[in-house]
Parts: sequence; structure tokens; C-alpha cells
Amino acid sequence: MSTRVIAIDGPAGSGKSSVARALAAALGWSFLDTGAMYRAVTVEALRQGVDVSNEEAMGDLAREVQLSTLPRVSVNGRDVEDEIRTETVNEAVSIVAANALVRHQMVSRQREFAEAQPLGTVVEGRDITTVVFPHATVKVYLTASLEERARRRGEEGEASVARRDVADSTREASPLRQAPDALVIDTTGREVGDAVEEIIQWLKNKTLS
Ligand code: CDP
Repeated sequence: MSTRVIAIDGPAGSGKSSVARALAAALGWSFLDTGAMYRAVTVEALRQGVDVSNEEAMGDLAREVQLSTLPRVSVNGRDVEDEIRTETVNEAVSIVAANALVRHQMVSRQREFAEAQPLGTVVEGRDITTVVFPHATVKVYLTASLEERARRRGEEGEASVARRDVADSTREASPLRQAPDALVIDTTGREVGDAVEEIIQWLKNKTLS
């Protein structure tokens, strides 16, 4: 299989989006923010009045919904770039993300997306190194202290970030885990560019060896 993927996982505020975006730009690869997909499905459910804890109804919605993350996040053709970051969505998204039917739909779309990219894709989320692309060219686990991660998340606050950490790492369906062969980078007090350089170096070593 020739799909080239750099898979990045990590908890809320660990720097995944910033690092993945900058890395994709540096390599000329595509970028996929999978968290935005779970958030967009959540926004649409709330808009339609679907009960987010109704597994079947959410599975149906996830199958039928039209999703796009670039250039802006949209759902069924509606721009939701700003709406996906609201407090209401922060609260509901972990319930949606714990639904195995929803995850199944999102994972298929993520694989399809990467397969269609001409050069490669930097994909970031919670289960990318473990479930979506376990054979990725390079796997990275980003982390940072809770204090710093909460600071980066601003308005959301430390309590909500910590609650999502627990929900994401203890759920039954594809919990957040560190893959044994992942390059672990603690971004506490470090610049985005530092992590990007470290990953590019790791990629070079991998492709040369
Ligand atoms: O704001 P933050 O970077 O923490 O979150 P995000 O990457 O936008 O993801 C939002 C939520 O989606 C997470 O808290 C997870 O519950 C879920 N998610 C997931 O379960 N699997 C992924 N691959 C990506 C996100």
C-alpha cells in the first residue's frame, strides 16, 4: 500500500493541530484534523435535535452527513468552523466520540481521504496511530502538562480539558493510547517548530533506514 501517513495522537491541547498543520505545510502534504470531524457531527446532531446519546440515531447521522474539513469545517454544506469550538460542543463531543457506530463511519472517511492524496497526509486525533493507521510511515504521540494544555485551550478551562482527557482515555471504543512504536514529544514550553523539526528528522531516519 502506498498511502503515506504521518499519524499524530495526543490529549486536548497537546499541540496536535498546530504541529500537524505546520508539518503538512513543510512537507507539502495534506492535513486532516479528525477531531473537527467528531465536532462537526456533534454540531449537526445538536442542530437537528438528535439525542447525542442515542447510539443508533447518531450512527445514522454520521453515515448520512456530508463532511468537509478544508478549507473550513463544514457539515451538509454549512460552515461550522466557529461553532465546533463552543462550550456546548466541548461538552457533547466526548459522548459522540465514544459511539462505536459513529467511529466506524469516521474511520472509513479518514482512510478514504488519505488514500486520495497525491503525496501524503498528516492526520491527527486520538486513535490515528492505534486504529486508523496502525501502519503509518511515522507515528507521533504529543503530550504536555495539564496546566499548559489548559492554558492553550483558553476559555474551555482546566476542568473541562481534564474531563475530556478522562473520557477519551477510558472509553471502550478506541481509547486514546500511546502506540508502543510512537515518537513521544512533550511540547511543554516548546515551540511548534521544534516538534516539527524533530518529526521531520525522525521521518528522514525512517525512510533512509
Ligand atoms: O480540542 P482538542 O484538540 O482536544 O480536540 P479535538 O482534536 O478537536 O477533538 C475533540 C474530541 O473528539 C476529543 O475530545 C475526542 O473525544 C474526539 N476525538 C476522537 O475521539 N478521536 C479522534 N481521532 C479525534 C477526536
